[in-house]
Amino acid sequence: MNDTFLKACRGEKTDFTPIWIMRQAGRYLPDYQKVRGKVDFLTLCKTPELAAEVTIQPIDILKVDAAILFSDILIPVEAMGMNLEFHEKQGPVLTPAVRDENTVKKLSVPDPEDKMRFVMDTIRILRKELAGRVPLIGFSGAPFTTATYMIEGGTSKNFLNTKRMIFQSPELYSSLMDKITATLTEYLKAQIRAGAQAVQLFDTWGGIFSPQDFKVYALSYVKKIIHDIRDWQKAERSEPVPVIYFVGETAGLLEEIKGSGADVHGVDWRIDIDDAIRRLGNNAVVQGNLDPLALFLPQSKIEQRVKDILSRASSARGHIFNLGHGVVPETPFENVIALVEMVHRHSKR
Ligand code: CP3
Repeated sequence: MNDTFLKACRGEKTDFTPIWIMRQAGRYLPDYQKVRGKVDFLTLCKTPELAAEVTIQPIDILKVDAAILFSDILIPVEAMGMNLEFHEKQGPVLTPAVRDENTVKKLSVPDPEDKMRFVMDTIRILRKELAGRVPLIGFSGAPFTTATYMIEGGTSKNFLNTKRMIFQSPELYSSLMDKITATLTEYLKAQIRAGAQAVQLFDTWGGIFSPQDFKVYALSYVKKIIHDIRDWQKAERSEPVPVIYFVGETAGLLEEIKGSGADVHGVDWRIDIDDAIRRLGNNAVVQGNLDPLALFLPQSKIEQRVKDILSRASSARGHIFNLGHGVVPETPFENVIALVEMVHRHSKR
């Protein structure tokens, strides 16, 4: 089995630098488009055989070193009781937006094997079909990023409603965050029980905060999830599953992120990865950090950047190559295939 990714997560020596790509199963891949042409996105997420099929596509086509479960960070939000729709242009729409005590009260902390059984079924199918070829990553949104979608009712530019709740009704915010945190903890445990071999928490919007506010209103809940998962694993005496914590706009927050308790820290492209490693501490294991839009460069230029990132990341205890955020639909997919090959070739030890 190719366990290079898991070894790198644990900071062990590897024969080459493993790579996977955020949003690696998605619209830039013609094979994904073929499946997606037949069903809408939510149906795809909720049909385990199809979700497993698109999860495996990038393993076959790109030869990446890890698979990531095909799903979405908004699936648990629907399970908590909100109405979720994906619109072609607008993206996700969640109703009714959570802005008062009454709406928070109505939200539930769902049993994941009941309300999100299709996710666990997808994981069970995947572990069989992958048959040890590469490890499987499960995921959820981090509580704060999940909350922004619930409070804004979808995607936002300035997160006005979210920050207004935090600053005007901090108790309402913390009661909402407690419910989200409980939901995501149970959800991640269920994924691990079903067979996820690592989990990633996506805090895409963490960078909208000052470092002090980030610590109180986002990081504290992430720490709680990681702590609870660790305690549960100790009690179960199961092999610890690496936790990856990705924060968008990482650069201003590294000193805080350092204390998350995660095994691996995702780094976006707005900072040199050696600089991020220095600030996280040389004991850090990092994941990143090519600008996703650098995949529009000619391949010779992509190659220079790959070599640069590999050499800068050599100061870390472990490095998993990735983009600094998700691959975009317009990306020339031949360049993504080439990227994986370049990372493997230039990192061979
Ligand atoms: O990485 C993977 O390949 C696994 C699958 C995955 C998806 N979304 C599939 C998806 C993962 C890990 C996510 C995470 C996710 N979803 C995040 C955090 C990471 C990030 O990108 O910031 C967020 C913020 C979401 C919420 C979300 N989902 C939005 C805002 C949108 C609409 C915008 C867009 O990219 O279309 C989605 C839809 C979505 N999630 C698609 C995919 C493949 C596109 C749906 C389609 O096929 O039409």
